[in-house]
Amino acid sequence: MPAQIGIFVAWPYANGDLHLGHIAGVYLPADTFARYHRLRGNRVLMVSGSDAHGTPITVAAEREGVTPEAIFRRYHRRFLDTYVRLGVSFDLFTHTHTPNHFAISQDVFLRLLERGYLFTQTQTQLYCEFDRRFLPDRYVEGTCPFCGYPSARGDQCDNCGRTLDATELISPRCRLCGRTPVVRQTEHFFFDLPAFTDQLLAYIDQQRHWRPNVQHFVRNFLQEGLKPRPVSRDLDWGIPVPVPGYEQKVLYVWFEAVIGYLSASIEWAKRQGDPEAWQAWWRDPAARSYYFIGKDNIPFHAIIWPAELLGYDPSLNLPYDIPANEFLNLEGQQFSTSRNWAIWAPDFLDRYAPDPLRDYLTSIAPETRDSEFTWQGFVERNNNELLATWGNLVHRVLSFTHSRFDGRVPQPGPLADRDASLLDQIAAAFPAIATLYERVELKAAQREAMALAREVNRYLDEKAPWAQIRDNPEGAATTIFVALRAIDSLALLLAPVLPFSSEQVRRFLGYQAPLFGQSEIAGEVADGGHEVLVYRPTPDEAHDRWQPSTLEPGRALQPPQVLFQKLDESVIEAERQRLLAQSRG
Ligand code: MF3
Ligand code: ZN
Repeated sequence: MPAQIGIFVAWPYANGDLHLGHIAGVYLPADTFARYHRLRGNRVLMVSGSDAHGTPITVAAEREGVTPEAIFRRYHRRFLDTYVRLGVSFDLFTHTHTPNHFAISQDVFLRLLERGYLFTQTQTQLYCEFDRRFLPDRYVEGTCPFCGYPSARGDQCDNCGRTLDATELISPRCRLCGRTPVVRQTEHFFFDLPAFTDQLLAYIDQQRHWRPNVQHFVRNFLQEGLKPRPVSRDLDWGIPVPVPGYEQKVLYVWFEAVIGYLSASIEWAKRQGDPEAWQAWWRDPAARSYYFIGKDNIPFHAIIWPAELLGYDPSLNLPYDIPANEFLNLEGQQFSTSRNWAIWAPDFLDRYAPDPLRDYLTSIAPETRDSEFTWQGFVERNNNELLATWGNLVHRVLSFTHSRFDGRVPQPGPLADRDASLLDQIAAAFPAIATLYERVELKAAQREAMALAREVNRYLDEKAPWAQIRDNPEGAATTIFVALRAIDSLALLLAPVLPFSSEQVRRFLGYQAPLFGQSEIAGEVADGGHEVLVYRPTPDEAHDRWQPSTLEPGRALQPPQVLFQKLDESVIEAERQRLLAQSRG
């Protein structure tokens, strides 16, 4: 019975396009990990959706003078396209504005209330007398009381990562009008986080496999002492508080968005026509759940969400791992939506293919420290590594097979030491690279696979089949046979990172069935006509396909086509100029 792997991916705010920082930090690693497990025949459930509520959406709506609904629908739709083009194989990518999510979030709220984990309290909150409204989190900016960063948001400081209450900000400013807000009273529901302290400490203590930065962050957070957290807001966009008299308030976006992991799993099960199917990932103790997020999301996933789960239903699985990433920077600066210092994924994908991006972003993955996208790095990686090492290897071996062996896998002679040792080395890489993928060390997994590709190139240079063929045709046949098996294996080892080109290589090698299924945009009339992304697996995904090539002599191959496009050096300067122009508006 294959293991169930839950892959739970941060819900992007639907207030703007995804940029390469989001892709590198969250969506690409999640998909790479999912595809690895799909190849293993494990039962993958990868879900997420658009975070449709909260002030990020209402602020954007106000700025444009449209409804929050219009904002979220626009970007939600664009997310779906981006994932299809980039090959992010969500089993379900939905959103938080569905009847299903409303019902489950309200159910969680009511159950926590019933069990005494929620209480009401009058709270002081910032109120803008000019705009005549309470100013929740992101409507306020000011100086961080912990680190002094001058542009901290009302919910969190982007500089030191601490979560904040807007009233703690020094010199707060209203983001609508720039004026100084006043403090007023309002009544809200609070989540009794301190009630979970002991359980959370015990839980965190068992998570020694987490990345050191995540463990460190969480231990500090717990040491500083947990405080009750307000979980309702004075806002008219969101999920109404399901308590008489409070219906004009909504659930705090962070309280309900994390519930999306559960509600999306349930929505997926309903769509499968098997409404209980989600339980295999949520109740079976053998299942593992991995949460792919950026580092700014750690407290919500490692503390608050586990506490919500413990309070709601202690039989539900807590996160097994939270491989949070650090940040990706861009040409020496942080990605910034407001300054338009960003490479937007849809824009990038209009001009470049997905696999070179997946390859480069994996090679610079911010797994343990912040890293940087540069156009020079992208062009160099594409030309000197992806194309020179992997693309050329495939191309030269396949072309040679077509010109000299009639496009068929040649019958080898007896394997000499060097031949056998190369194939042994590749066979040994299967368990080794598997371990890296399983530990979410994706950059290392890719590095090992690429090192093998270089090794195969070296082997070919040594053997020189183009010379061998003249006086030792059987030797040349052996070399090409070995090289084809190596390529076949490498296409599999690299497939989690490079799904599009690996499928292509496998077609050249004469395989008919694809490795992976198809992503599709599906409508759902019952949920108000909203569109979602779903994944249709191939039947082969029920089997473990993680094994070295058994490509047989005589197999007919397809003529190879170009796998990767060489990029001209001039691209670097042109793209830098484009970025500068875009950021100047
Ligand atoms: N929308 C949040 C962000 O972009 C992430 C939410 S993750 C969730 O930072 F789990 F809470 F949904
Ligand atoms: Zn104001």
